[in-house]
Amino acid sequence: MHSIYQYQEFISDYLQSQYTIKEPKNLYEPIHYILRLGGKRMRPVLTLMSAEVFDTDYKLALPAALAVEVFHNFSLVHDDIMDAAPLRRGNQTVHEKWNTNTAILSGDAMLILAYQYFEQYEPSVFRDLAKLFGKTALEVCEGQQWDVDFETRKDVTIPEYLKMIEYKTAVLVAAAMKMGAIVAQTSCENANLIYDFGLNLGLAFQLQDDYLDAFGDPETFGKQVGGDIIENKKTYLYLKAIEYATPDQKEKILHLLSNHFEDNTLKINEVKSLFDSTGASKATQQAIQEYTLKAFETLSKISIDNEKKDKLRSFGENLMQRKV
Ligand code: IPE
Ligand code: IPE
Ligand code: MG
Ligand code: MG
Ligand code: MG
Repeated sequence: MHSIYQYQEFISDYLQSQYTIKEPKNLYEPIHYILRLGGKRMRPVLTLMSAEVFDTDYKLALPAALAVEVFHNFSLVHDDIMDAAPLRRGNQTVHEKWNTNTAILSGDAMLILAYQYFEQYEPSVFRDLAKLFGKTALEVCEGQQWDVDFETRKDVTIPEYLKMIEYKTAVLVAAAMKMGAIVAQTSCENANLIYDFGLNLGLAFQLQDDYLDAFGDPETFGKQVGGDIIENKKTYLYLKAIEYATPDQKEKILHLLSNHFEDNTLKINEVKSLFDSTGASKATQQAIQEYTLKAFETLSKISIDNEKKDKLRSFGENLMQRKV
């Protein structure tokens, strides 16, 4: 197996070889732009790792890995419109740099480009990959709709929230790993176990994303800090704050996160201090750790040697430490 850094290099080299800017430029330039901005490349790294975990050369998994990454970037372009986000990976979002219509259509094209990567596989592998991709992509849409629906609701529960983040985020991480297993043509049992590992890692990942959205360092985070608070997102921080709040604190939180205000800085500071004083910040950090540990438990059931399990475990541990 290779290091995470090496896998990232394989992906960016492969990506580099793929796209040239064609006409019409306003369709293809935004696609280049967002893909070149990089990001952590966590999902395609997991696809390549998963192929190698199941004794298959990572090169065979490159098209599937890139399908996942291009799909992920498509979802970000549309997500940034839906979340009115100005910044992505330290740069202007596509709809800000161009306009919303351009971001919609370039996003649509990316979804199609992603699917086309599967055409490189032989029929039985193609069928399994396409089936998983279709199911996952639809679930991401469902999760995204819940996320938006929750903005205007005051009665969102923790189980509803967990379902929402499972769909909008965790299923793609899980599918990224299962695709590596499909390319490797390992047993169904292994493929499902690696999916479960990815699912729990993905839940931990989204919890951490919620945490960083409020408490990340604006210098390095790459997204607008406090964006979820501005948009009244019903994050784990919010739900735990409501749960632990005194009646007085609860009233404040409900008021702050069900309205829009002139002064966003003030809103963000007040909400963050309530997240801290209610104990919601600590509870979120605990939940991140719990879901990561749950992922590690699944690892013990997979029939691969310990050295490979260590690699996957250290990937999960690194994720917990992330600042972006
Ligand atoms: C952001 O994903 C969207 C979420 C599901 C939280 P990443 O944090 O993986 O974004 P990049 O690709 O590294 O920029
Ligand atoms: C994004 O969730 C999930 C998808 C893009 C499908 P967020 O809205 O929390 O992601 P960020 O924080 O903008 O990256
Ligand atoms: Mg967003
Ligand atoms: Mg969103
Ligand atoms: Mg987020």
